[in-house]
Amino acid sequence: MNLPKTIRMTEVGPRDGLQNEAQTVSVADKVRFIDLLSQAGAAEIEVSSFVNPQWVPQLGDAAEVFARIKRRSGVVYSALVPNDRGLDGALEAGVDKVAVFTAASETFSQQNTNASIAQTIERFQPVIARAKQSKLLVRAYISCVVQCPYEGPVAPKQVRDVAAKLLDIGADEIDLGETIGVAVPTDIDSLYDGLAGLVQPADSTLHLHDTRGTALACAVRAMQLGVTSFDASCGGLGGCPYAPGAAGNLATDDLVYLCDRMGIETHVDLPKLFDAGRHIAGALGRGLRSRVFEASAEA
Ligand code: HMG
Ligand code: MG
Repeated sequence: MNLPKTIRMTEVGPRDGLQNEAQTVSVADKVRFIDLLSQAGAAEIEVSSFVNPQWVPQLGDAAEVFARIKRRSGVVYSALVPNDRGLDGALEAGVDKVAVFTAASETFSQQNTNASIAQTIERFQPVIARAKQSKLLVRAYISCVVQCPYEGPVAPKQVRDVAAKLLDIGADEIDLGETIGVAVPTDIDSLYDGLAGLVQPADSTLHLHDTRGTALACAVRAMQLGVTSFDASCGGLGGCPYAPGAAGNLATDDLVYLCDRMGIETHVDLPKLFDAGRHIAGALGRGLRSRVFEASAEA
């Protein structure tokens, strides 16, 4: 099998995970979670979002969380920003990197950001320009790269068109969001075929959700195609409040276990990741959706 020697892991549990919980986790528990994740070896941690707190109340404490985490040297601490106002908050908090977010589906874009795709791109122009003046890297998410919860299947060409616009306005990294967790490995082939000549697999990040238990199979296929940057969430937390039917992200635990066994370096230490998982499971008062995490409790 043609597989990479090493992959880069972005831990999105504190953001994608906690944005989707019915209860808001305390600042102290979030900070501990993030500090345990950095100790476990995540290259990048998506700490929170500077969005309208009426839209995502669970992350309304982003500034406080950033102020209290222990920054570990070499770890990139990032946050989602939808507009100029969000970038102001992110700059004040001293983030290392920002992530703007749009979609390949018009209805999802409206539901998630109250704007058309074109309007989100317009909003991002000054955000990206200012982020670059501050020497921040910019990730640009495209949601619904395989299917939209409102419109159904999304053509790879739609993803390509949005990616081209994001690159045009200066995005450093295209992050492909399989928002609702429907993809199977052949969808990953179609997605990257559609991006040929514009975004190389090795230059993209893949953000899988695992609603139907297919995320790990898609990750392996993506690695075979040359993808080396993945988002995943500790214990499989995650989902988007504006994507009905979306369950957790690909669990970091599951991907790290698979990579460890296949000789692919992730730099994440699985027992330390379980510590982070146990902590957040305790704060949430429930179990987590990772098979590997569950097995660790039984071992
Ligand atoms: P809007 O209501 O159209 O914004 O929301 P607006 O510009 O009309 O402003 C309305 C009010 O919100 C104003 O306050 C603004 O100041 C305030 P007022 O003057 O009325 O008191 N406001 C803000 N407050 C704090 N921070 C801000 C901000 N912006 C405006 N940044 C907006 C537009 C984009 C802000 C809103 O729709 C929003 O916050 N959406 C966020 C939705 C979200 O976070 N979704 C989840 C993340 S995306 C995801 O999960 C997918 C992903 O994981 C990939 C995948 O899986 O596919 C990334
Ligand atoms: Mg997501």
